[in-house]
Amino acid sequence: MANNSNSVSTDEAKALAWLLRWYAEMGVDLAVDAEPHNRFAEKDLQKPRRPAPPEPAIQRPEPRLAPSADATAQSATEAARAAQTLDELRAELLAFEGCTLKATATQLVFADGNPEADIMIVGEAPGADEDRIGRPFVGRAGQLLDKMLAAIGLDRRHVYIANVVPWRPPGNRTPTPIETSACLPFMRRQIELVHPKILVCLGAAATQTLLGTREGIMRIRGRWHEYDMEGEKIPAIVMLHPAYLLRQPSHKKFAWQDLRELAKMANKIGN
Ligand code: URA
Repeated sequence: MANNSNSVSTDEAKALAWLLRWYAEMGVDLAVDAEPHNRFAEKDLQKPRRPAPPEPAIQRPEPRLAPSADATAQSATEAARAAQTLDELRAELLAFEGCTLKATATQLVFADGNPEADIMIVGEAPGADEDRIGRPFVGRAGQLLDKMLAAIGLDRRHVYIANVVPWRPPGNRTPTPIETSACLPFMRRQIELVHPKILVCLGAAATQTLLGTREGIMRIRGRWHEYDMEGEKIPAIVMLHPAYLLRQPSHKKFAWQDLRELAKMANKIGN
């Protein structure tokens, strides 16, 4: 411990001796000044500073505002109206830039089945398998849908299948209302061009989008509603989505009741 300001303690002496030894080992054998100097900083100060080169002129695009929902709806409606056939509608969708899902999806998943069918089935949106293959309902939910149809004597030759949104939402999330409404004019036109006699809404997204209802799916499933096809009313039935049934197999009994309703109506119209 230091007794006064000039004396050093044994510990301090030991530390100083250790420091000197370390200097010697590092090759420091001459004291040039009483104060330490930062030579690197001094060197930097001496260096004549070169002026920074001028930044290359970057051609920046004019800032573009994202089109409003109204403008998107307007362009979707015009594009959909312009299509006189399903092939033209498909081409219009391929050219449509108003739905952001297009940027993350692999491809457009337009439809499957028979465009001449009397029964049109509308699901929610493509999943991973559909996105890869380019056809709706080809994954596990699709296989269950095929079994459900087979249970009432139908297959893909008897139905036309599409989704309210034709691009896969990332991670199979539910499409947002903005995404759904951007695609709605195309879906409505697709229904008009197929002109089915029966519409089947599979799950809540299709039901809410096409029938404009907020009622819970368990309350409205299995009952007949009306779809307004540009002024012409067509019968529409709400059924549980096969992806939901895969998660809730105990609810398959409801799907069976709904399928029987569908079969009755299909018989009535001669299917
Ligand atoms: N679920 C849907 O709603 N649509 C498909 O195409 C596949 C799974």
